[in-house]
Amino acid sequence: MHQGKTYIVTGVASGIGAETCRLLREQGAKVIGIDRTETDNADQFFQADLSSPDSIDALIEALPEGTNGLANIAGLPPTLAPELVLQVNLLGLRRLTEGLVPKLAEGASVANLASLAGFGWPNAVEQVKAALDLDFTSDLAAFCAANSLNEPGGRSYFLGKEALIAWTIQNRWTWRDRGITMNCISPGPVDTPILQDFIETLGERAAEDRKVMDRPGTAQDIAPVVAFALSEGAKWLRGSNLTADGGMSNHILSNIHGL
Ligand SMILES: NC(=O)c1ccc[n+]([C@@H]2O[C@H](COP(=O)([O-])OP(=O)(O)OC[C@H]3O[C@@H](n4cnc5c(N)ncnc54)[C@H](O)[C@@H]3O)[C@@H](O)[C@H]2O)c1
Repeated sequence: MHQGKTYIVTGVASGIGAETCRLLREQGAKVIGIDRTETDNADQFFQADLSSPDSIDALIEALPEGTNGLANIAGLPPTLAPELVLQVNLLGLRRLTEGLVPKLAEGASVANLASLAGFGWPNAVEQVKAALDLDFTSDLAAFCAANSLNEPGGRSYFLGKEALIAWTIQNRWTWRDRGITMNCISPGPVDTPILQDFIETLGERAAEDRKVMDRPGTAQDIAPVVAFALSEGAKWLRGSNLTADGGMSNHILSNIHGL
């Protein structure tokens, strides 16, 4: 399926990124892995800190020209400091993608790991737009204070994922002249090292979700969806959000609309 292709995968050292790397290689691709943690599971590896603009710029400089896609999978859970969560999950992801697109091959694909946590973006459009105005020169401390992101509940994580879904939609046609498409994937809870962080942050809400779902997802449930989003078969998808959550988002929609 991916014979002859080379993809860049961030977050390759653990969880969904590691499984996506394994699957893409099994399907014939070469994988260039990126993580802050060193690992030898990819064909080539670059260590980088995606919360640091300098580290991201050096990475973009070092990465080769002509790769066929970028899977933005690295991410931090809601238990960490709100500024850091926004830096990695939103600002770093965007800086890497925008800086790398000129080096990607014609017809390349970008796949962003969003989340069920981003489901509510249409209800928070003004805050989402304000988050999309941020970059590494912004006063993130002031933004977090003004938007109550330091309070319990992990809002920074939710907002980062809402903004990622909105940014993916916004850029449905940005690179259309070069055939470069971008989509996102929104898993529900997935059994990786950060699942416990979500359970801690969400408390009762997580317990309710777990009662409704037959099980949490696994990295093996999500990686094939990322691999599809990178593939030739997904080229008519532009700005789409692929929900891979065992039916959870449709359960919420069904409840909202009384189906
Ligand atoms: N696990 C879930 O329940 C779940 C649900 C929905 C979405 N997601 C998203 O899936 C993606 C992958 O999560 P996972 O569950 O595999 O988590 P994970 O912790 O297993 O993997 C995340 C990887 O990102 C890397 N990373 C974190 N900060 C970094 C930085 N500053 N620079 C470079 N690398 C960095 C980590 O080292 C790690 O290898 C994340 O974006 C997460 O938000 C996870």
